[in-house]
Amino acid sequence: MPFTLPPLPYSTSALAAQGMCQETLELHHGKHHNAYVTALNGLIESKGLAGKSLETIVAEAGKAGADGLPVLNQAGQHWNHALFWQVMSPKGGGDKLPGNLAAKIDSDLGGLQAFKDAFKQAGVSQFGSGWAWLIIGTDGKLKVTKTPNGANPVSTGEGTPILGCDVWEHAYYLDFRNVRPNYLENFLNKLVDWEVVAGLMDKGGLTTGQTA
Ligand SMILES: [Fe+2]
Repeated sequence: MPFTLPPLPYSTSALAAQGMCQETLELHHGKHHNAYVTALNGLIESKGLAGKSLETIVAEAGKAGADGLPVLNQAGQHWNHALFWQVMSPKGGGDKLPGNLAAKIDSDLGGLQAFKDAFKQAGVSQFGSGWAWLIIGTDGKLKVTKTPNGANPVSTGEGTPILGCDVWEHAYYLDFRNVRPNYLENFLNKLVDWEVVAGLMDKGGLTTGQTA
């Protein structure tokens, strides 16, 4: 079955008061994300993807290195955006994290502010397009990392993402122009739904349920 664009879990105007306007969501979800889905579906037959889950396709494309890039560019972006829409919500923002997540950020990353600083630094220092991540590393500890283009910590084998932020210009240009640091600051302080992030930590990350 072909991949599909997952619906936003809120309306396109729902995050406008939190720094992500309706036009950003209409274009980013309805055009950019949809284009990755369409392109990925166009590769199913030629790349032998039929019957594989999106998560398997991303992991295998990452292991294939340069040969896997044509698939990873689309499959990774489909997965990355599916996570991105989920970790934001109209109830997002603030510094009140669920206890289990707050405790693990304290023990593994030195506290909420240290985590936010590291996450912002990851996003700002990702040259060009890519993603900033909070992941459960292969050793079970939380880590902050970044990846270029359509890659993600599943494709690199670094671990399991529980929070991701798109730092491509299409994610923030309408709301923050060229000022990526302000977009990242706003994302962490006003948009992230920490209940969702804690839930992803508890269940070991996102499974989209989508299969080629
Ligand atoms: Fe994007």
